Amino acid sequence: MGALHRTGQAACATQRCQMLAMNEPPRILVIDDEEGIRAGCRRALEPEGYIVETASTGQEGLHRVQEGRFDLVLVDVVLPDMRGVDLLRPILEKDPDVVCVVITGYATVELAVQAIRSGAYDFLSKPFTADILRMTVAQGLERRRLTLEARRLQKIEEEAQELARAKAELERLDRFKTTFMWTVAHELRAPLNALQSFLLAILKGYIPPEEQQEVLERAAQRVQELLDLVDDLLKLAAAKSEKGLEKREPVSLADILEKVAPLFRKEAEARGITWAVDVRARPVVQADPDQMAQVWSNLISNAVKYTPAGGQVQVILEERDGWAIGAVEDTGIGIAPQDRERVFEEFYRTPQAREIAPRGTGLGLPLVKQIVEGHGGCITVESELGRGSRFTFRLPVSP
Ligand SMILES: Nc1ncnc2c1ncn2[C@@H]1O[C@H](COP(=O)(O)OP(=O)(O)OP(=O)(O)O)[C@@H](O)[C@H]1O
Ligand SMILES: [Mg+2]
Repeated sequence: MGALHRTGQAACATQRCQMLAMNEPPRILVIDDEEGIRAGCRRALEPEGYIVETASTGQEGLHRVQEGRFDLVLVDVVLPDMRGVDLLRPILEKDPDVVCVVITGYATVELAVQAIRSGAYDFLSKPFTADILRMTVAQGLERRRLTLEARRLQKIEEEAQELARAKAELERLDRFKTTFMWTVAHELRAPLNALQSFLLAILKGYIPPEEQQEVLERAAQRVQELLDLVDDLLKLAAAKSEKGLEKREPVSLADILEKVAPLFRKEAEARGITWAVDVRARPVVQADPDQMAQVWSNLISNAVKYTPAGGQVQVILEERDGWAIGAVEDTGIGIAPQDRERVFEEFYRTPQAREIAPRGTGLGLPLVKQIVEGHGGCITVESELGRGSRFTFRLPVSP
């Protein structure tokens, strides 16, 4: 090994390399069975500010790689216990950005070429001078710095993209909230407006006493609508919040169905609707019992409301593959394909529904969807306009 001349180029590269990993000095491992090479490498590299460790066999080298963190490994192509080439894979598996430089003698150039093909960055032919060693090491470390820098930039770019996605999602939610508030205000205003005109008409004496009773009844009806709307909004807010989680308990969906269904049976039968409740299983789910009642009552009330006289409504509860499955089917007005997703949107009502039932908040299905999804389940609709609909929800059975 030659005398230690610090070349300008090597020194400059070293300074940059000293900032490789969080300002720690670069760590170099020398795996060579020749004592002279190991000592020479130390002598040439340590004054540059590198931390140098050595190993005299392949096994020892492997052990050091596994235990420590290195930026660059100098490895002899021929070691007493194995070929240097065979060390490359485990080294690069641990850290693909470690720079491997193979040390080769005249007779082993072919092995060195093989090593380059297996991922080594460069090779040093014996005998080599301290300057050549320092230059090769400095170049290798510079390459590692650039690779790490590129990775860091790529990560920053990925994070920036992730942030942009999150920002877009927040903006979408914000727009949704604004639209929602606007719609709520609008929905509240209409009945309040009607109420105000009824009251003013009476106060100003425009309504003769014998007609006042009827006007007051209409006013009471609008107040009821307002209360229904506010109640639905409160239920929706409750379903969206995390607060209800502590209200969850093992609930029999069949028990709840058997309590809720009779509330609608009378109305259905009064309108000549054939009525069937088919409880095929009694699954138990971990849920808020009030919310489960809301799921059944909203689906069943819709089936009755949107099925003309003489139709059929059937409710089925079963259990399959760890899921409780509830289905509410009717032979009613049905839903057009373009409306099937929209009926789960807040306040959306189809033209056909508005015709058959002018009153409704359009908050029932969004509430059902929110509750079902909040309990780890899902809801789907199959429907044909003018022929009927089937709403099916699934909830995971309580273990
Ligand atoms: N069984 C059904 N058949 C046909 N259309 C339905 C059925 N269930 C729901 N829909 C459609 O979905 C819309 C939204 O239903 P949702 O229950 O949310 O509100 P609504 O029934 O209109 O109002 P409310 O539930 O306050 O009475 C309905 O207006 C109707 O257009
Ligand atoms: Mg409804």
